[in-house]
Amino acid sequence: MSSVAVAGSLNIDLVIRAPHCPQKGETVVGSTFGMAGGGKGSNQALAAARLSAKSHIIGCIGSDDFGRKLKNVLTENGVDCSQLHTMKNAPTGTAVITVTDDGNNSVIISQGANSLLDDDAMMKAADVFESSDAALFQMESPAKTVAAGLKLSRRHGCKTFLSAEPPFSLPAEAWENIDYLILNERALSFYAGRKQHKSVEEMANEILMRGVKCLAVTQSAKGGMIFVKGGDHFSFDAFNIRAVDNTGARDAFCAGFCVGLCEGMPLKRAAKFASACGALACTKIGAHPSMPWRHQVSALLGEAADDEYEL
Ligand code: RIB
Repeated sequence: MSSVAVAGSLNIDLVIRAPHCPQKGETVVGSTFGMAGGGKGSNQALAAARLSAKSHIIGCIGSDDFGRKLKNVLTENGVDCSQLHTMKNAPTGTAVITVTDDGNNSVIISQGANSLLDDDAMMKAADVFESSDAALFQMESPAKTVAAGLKLSRRHGCKTFLSAEPPFSLPAEAWENIDYLILNERALSFYAGRKQHKSVEEMANEILMRGVKCLAVTQSAKGGMIFVKGGDHFSFDAFNIRAVDNTGARDAFCAGFCVGLCEGMPLKRAAKFASACGALACTKIGAHPSMPWRHQVSALLGEAADDEYEL
């Protein structure tokens, strides 16, 4: 069994379905409302556990009902919450999400306690990093903390993964501590310096020059591309599914990619496995509810579920 430490955000997502997202000054009459666990860190930790990894969350919640709900769901799903800190001076993070009829979403987050995840929390998690095969970060935590976590987890022998969403500037020294970077096309142009006329390949190569070992660019329904330092690159396909809500799909992809590589899958196989995880996450409304289980991924890949993975 692989072991993954996920450091990042936990939110309660407030989700309304609507025909379209409101324009400035517009009120849109939506349809269903739902509330579910979310936040990129907690989605990835939950997905890693459902994919049969030993999963740990390193993060901050408020001392409130939202925080307790998130901790309960993660614990029930087997995520180790020993490094989940309850803060007295900030509420649990919240996301307000509009999901449109074509399955796309727009999100506003109130960071709350997520903004308090600091270097000290990374230091306290040293034992978790020491016992984990990989550490996975996102950008809903302070960039300085992400940089410190990447450095520390690498020092403790973890493969390091950064899902750099939403895109914010990273301290320059952080790049060389990233083994696997996962970006969508919007984040790719942000980190490559918004060079409009450059191809995906050119932007990817610029990022690899900063010291990143492998870059995965996700392209939604088109699948994506993997670029490896030294020149190799290949494309992977998306699965053909009927998307009802893509919230959390990239989190499921990241968890799948990380778990696959920690289990020793070759890069192409890990990309296909991750793509199946992302596709399954689009088939249900809500982030936590849609994080896929291992047997569902095996079924989509047309494989018999290995005994080890039966849940
Ligand atoms: O990646 C999806 C997540 O982004 C949602 O669950 C929401 O909380 C935001 O953090």
